[in-house]
Amino acid sequence: MTKKTLPADFLWGGAVAAHQVEGAYDVGGKGLSVADVMTAAGTHDERRITAGVQPNEFYPNHEAVDFYHQYPADVKLFAEMGFKCFRTSIAWSRIFPQGDEVEPNEAGLAFYDRLFDECHKYHIEPVVTLSHFEMPYHLVTKYGGFRSRQTIKFFTRFAQTVFERYRDKVTYWLTFNEINNQINYDRAFTLFTNSGIQVQPGENAEAVMYQASHYEVVASAIAVQIAHTINPDFQVGAMVAFSPVYPATDKPRDVFKAQRAMQARFWYSDVQVEGQYPTWLTNYFETKGFDLDITAADLANLRQGTVDYLGFSYYMSFATAATDDEDDQFSYNETDDLVTNQFVPQSAWGWQVDPQGLRYGLNWMNDRYHLPLFIVENGIGAIDQLTATHEVHDQYRIDYLHDHIDQMELAMTEDGVPVMGYTPWSAIDIVSASTGQLSKRYGVIYVDRNDDGSGSLARYRKDSFYWYQRVIASNGADL
Ligand code: BG6
Repeated sequence: MTKKTLPADFLWGGAVAAHQVEGAYDVGGKGLSVADVMTAAGTHDERRITAGVQPNEFYPNHEAVDFYHQYPADVKLFAEMGFKCFRTSIAWSRIFPQGDEVEPNEAGLAFYDRLFDECHKYHIEPVVTLSHFEMPYHLVTKYGGFRSRQTIKFFTRFAQTVFERYRDKVTYWLTFNEINNQINYDRAFTLFTNSGIQVQPGENAEAVMYQASHYEVVASAIAVQIAHTINPDFQVGAMVAFSPVYPATDKPRDVFKAQRAMQARFWYSDVQVEGQYPTWLTNYFETKGFDLDITAADLANLRQGTVDYLGFSYYMSFATAATDDEDDQFSYNETDDLVTNQFVPQSAWGWQVDPQGLRYGLNWMNDRYHLPLFIVENGIGAIDQLTATHEVHDQYRIDYLHDHIDQMELAMTEDGVPVMGYTPWSAIDIVSASTGQLSKRYGVIYVDRNDDGSGSLARYRKDSFYWYQRVIASNGADL
């Protein structure tokens, strides 16, 4: 049976984030960001966070893949693939190097003018994330990142500055990348990259996370309101990591545990879409004795700053099982509560590959939110081999993307889910966010750079480049 066709204006493209591609970490007046103080790690360990930039340490984001200098040729390759859109982020610390200045850094603003102009030259629509794991490091050392209510003001000033500057160059915005990652509050990486927070001994990490998250959803809601005042045509989205949490069995306790896990992972989008906290969570704060700074003005901002669409990443699904000693809340702790799903394969990094989970997620979000959905990340990290003739035969990447696009198309054509676009991760090889590796490659364009920083930085088209070019040319019919 042939599938029905996708809308003609479907936004096919590709995604990256500033800190993972640009490099030039100290060029054009840029300040240090949280990504600039994270070392490289191996496949199975975590990046270390150092106190500032230390001698004798290697920081892979400092040079990344040099997109800052090579963007004209890279955007040309995106155009060759047929991109309708390109998702990237604005490095906050290029615009406000310290984060708390009143006046922005003109050289940083001018860089993104050039980048967005280059995209428009090829009719590529920029899709721009405001905060993608790259908060100015000075906000961490001076204010504790989003521990502080003051950081709301710094973020919204940054947002207003770029909304005004790119009023006629950018229509699609996203506020905080994967804002819900930090629900995994026991992992140093997530709290640091989402919120600029390092938990201190004796602190209740969960309470710290909920307070910072509250300030972020408020900052997001204020930014949405500012955006619509500056340009009523702006489309501002929230962005969550969508990993559905399945029950490990059909035991009612497992099913309820999975429901609580889903509530915990997606209260962020509940608030950003619906403008209010879910009841389970306000009760949870009370039961846990979390005395959070949530004001009436905050709640009004949440109501008034709901998003226009929901962006999300999809890489994998999770599964969970209840233990024998659950508390009354069935409290979800992502570090301890996940189990392996025996029915899906895993990537070399242990990510559970589950294409049908994408269709499940699209239906789940459509039933819950009734908003347009935008798949702004989907892809697989894998080791690629560059041949002597500069080819990369990445059939595994083609298979992954094929199977996910197929499920997306079923959700759209069979289930009627409104999907605005699809931007695989990643348009070009990047520095992995969680490991700092270059060898955990995601791109459909290969970059000759190695984990230790060696390599010519030359770009080569992978097999997946040509495959994706055909997918776009056929508007998703030729998979
Ligand atoms: C998402 C992030 O978590 O997944 C990206 O938005 C990241 O920044 C991507 O690169 C893949 O994760 P990782 O850790 O393998 O790079």
